[in-house]
Amino acid sequence: MVIKSLTAPHWPRVALAALLLAISAAPSASEGGDAGDLAQQIAALKSANEQLRHLIPSQSHAMMDVAYHFTNLWFAGQHRNWPLAQFYFNEARNHILWAIRLVPVRKTSGGELHLQEMFDAFDKTLLADLKKQIAEKNRAGFAASYRAALDGCNACHTAAEKPYLHIVVPDKPEVHIVDFTPRDEGKR
Ligand code: HEC
Repeated sequence: MVIKSLTAPHWPRVALAALLLAISAAPSASEGGDAGDLAQQIAALKSANEQLRHLIPSQSHAMMDVAYHFTNLWFAGQHRNWPLAQFYFNEARNHILWAIRLVPVRKTSGGELHLQEMFDAFDKTLLADLKKQIAEKNRAGFAASYRAALDGCNACHTAAEKPYLHIVVPDKPEVHIVDFTPRDEGKR
C-alpha cells in the first residue's frame, strides 16, 4: 500500500476508497461496488443491526436472573452450603453487571441515573460484606448481611423510580432440582 506517501488532505478520499474496496471485496458484496451499492450495504447493515437489537434480552429479563440467583443464595446460606452460596453470589453479581450493560443509563424525572455508579457503591459495601460472610462460613453473619444487601437492591430500584419492585427475604427457593444440602466432598 501507499500509506507512507499520504498526507492529511488525502485521508477522507483514501478512507472512502478503502471502505469501498473493503465492501466490494467482502463475500456478501454485489459485483458493482458503486455508490448505490454502498448505500444498499449500509441500509442492509442498519436493518441487521436493528434486528439484533430486538433479539437482546431486556433489562428486566436480566434482573429476573438476578432475582433467581439471589433467592437461591439465601437458601444455600441457610443450609450452610458455602460453595453453592459462593456460586449464587457470583452469578447474581455478574447478572447485575449484565443488566447494567444492557441499559447503562436510565432516564428518570430527576435526570439521568448512571447504574454503574449505583452498583459500585453497592458492590464496595453491602455486597463486599456478604461475600466476606460466605468466605468465613458464618451463617448468622450471612443472614444479617443478606438482609442488609436487600436494601442495596431496593435503593437502586427506588432511584430508578420503581420503588414497587420491593425485594424481601424469599420464602422458597427458585429451583427444585438442585439439592441445597452440602455435599461431603470426601465421599465422592
Ligand atoms: C444498579 C441498579 C440495580 C441494582 C443494584 C439492582 N437492581 Fe433490580 N432492577 C433494576 C432496574 C433498573 C430494574 C427495572 C428494569 C426494567 O424496567 O426494565 C430492576 C428490576 C428488577 C426486578 C423485576 C424483574 C421483573 O421483570 O420481574 C427484580 C425481581 C429485581 N430487579 C431484583 C433485584 C435484586 C434481587 C437485586 C439485588 C441483589 C437487584 N435487583 C439489584 C436495577 C437494579
